[in-house]
Amino acid sequence: MAKGIASFSCSACGAVHKKWAGRCDGCGSWNCITEDAPLSSGPPSRSLGASRGRTVTLSDLNSEDTPPERTRSGMDEFDRVLGGGLVAGSAILIGGDPGIGKSTLLLQATAAFAKAGLSSIYISGEEASDQVRMRARRLGLHDAPLQLGAETNLRDILSTLDTLRPDLVVIDSIQTMWVDNVDSAPGSVSQVRACAHELVTFAKRRGTSVVLVGHVTKEGQIAGPRVVEHMVDTVIYFEGERGHQFRILRSVKNRFGPADEIGVFEMTGSGLSQVVNPSALFLSERDKPASGSVVFAGIEGTRPLLVEFQALVAPAPPGSPRRTVVGWDGGRLSMILAVLEARCGIAFSGMDVYLNVAGGIRVGEPAADLAVAAALLSAREDRPLPPDMVVFGELSLSGALRPVSQTENRLKEAQKLGFNRAVVPGRSKLGKVAGVDVIELADLAGFVARMGVGESH
Ligand code: TYD
Ligand code: MG
Repeated sequence: MAKGIASFSCSACGAVHKKWAGRCDGCGSWNCITEDAPLSSGPPSRSLGASRGRTVTLSDLNSEDTPPERTRSGMDEFDRVLGGGLVAGSAILIGGDPGIGKSTLLLQATAAFAKAGLSSIYISGEEASDQVRMRARRLGLHDAPLQLGAETNLRDILSTLDTLRPDLVVIDSIQTMWVDNVDSAPGSVSQVRACAHELVTFAKRRGTSVVLVGHVTKEGQIAGPRVVEHMVDTVIYFEGERGHQFRILRSVKNRFGPADEIGVFEMTGSGLSQVVNPSALFLSERDKPASGSVVFAGIEGTRPLLVEFQALVAPAPPGSPRRTVVGWDGGRLSMILAVLEARCGIAFSGMDVYLNVAGGIRVGEPAADLAVAAALLSAREDRPLPPDMVVFGELSLSGALRPVSQTENRLKEAQKLGFNRAVVPGRSKLGKVAGVDVIELADLAGFVARMGVGESH
């Protein structure tokens, strides 16, 4: 079989097919499957002969290296998520739902970098320069030494950048850009991939930092930024709940710093303002104790963060009861309900369960398991927890509590915000840590017993 094997891919969703078809099985679109250009003719062993390439320079692991050159914008929440400032020549992707505030954030950040001395260009493919200028005026940024452009043709953008050689360029958004050698509409997988590739290559070649903005769509109709994630150095998501003013900037991948770092912002009438003490903000009004409300001492990235879990349990009409979750994983809620039933004899069948994380933040740490269980129990029994208590611990399926990382940091943050008691996993008789009375528990049944719920065994 000397013939090269042809492959076909869908230009809308990127699915690979063995043969051509009129309709893509992956996304259901019509007339979108095209033949891919062959990578090489003939088997690799023959085409890549040992004599053809040049020798690659190799070096030892302990060779001298220079730390990457970084610039701080002065917006601390943004700089921290980048790993301590913007690295020259890095490629960054900032994804988020449409309307969450990506353009606002980047206009503010680019203006800050421009003021910090970086020559910066902001290219909008979605708005005219006038519109961006108007927004900048509203944000009080009109005197920032920043160049604006409104363009979607990537070839023109790249030749402009090649002449100007800026330190930073923002492309808002990657889904509006197109190159003429790719035969599909802007926003399709092939266009997004090709444009991102060109821009990342430019960043590496010229030492310009490139920030790509990408819209995430739930249905994946338009190529989401996911196809670009592996090409860039840093992937940041801008999240938040509509109707809440808080926005979280979260790094999910960073070649130049820790991942999972967060920055907290508040959307105001004059743009995004930084939230320096987020813990205080995510706790709702807590004057009098309320059942179902539990404060979780969490860690987001490198810093502690207190958040409030709220649960509500109500009798369900016949049929399958509701399980509604906002800000926490639905599967994990089912697991905790199952552990409560199987290990502690506390059933939630016949009851609707609602779980919400106050303030619109999303919690992903398993360390919040115990806080969720506590909120459910407190709601079910209508018994509030002491208002000065924080809770954390991971729950295993056996009902045992597993220790979690950074216990002391969590307790310090709790103490700073006026919490004097904590329920944590373990049996090391810690007593008092960082000024907080620590109650250590080995399993969930121990917690149930402490709450005085009768049916536990
Ligand atoms: P935008 O940055 O355009 O979102 P994205 O680029 O992610 O699509 O922000 C859009 C929302 O932000 C819009 O609904 C209005 C709101 N907003 C404010 O509340 N205050 C402001 O100062 C600005 C500029 C926008
Ligand atoms: Mg925008």
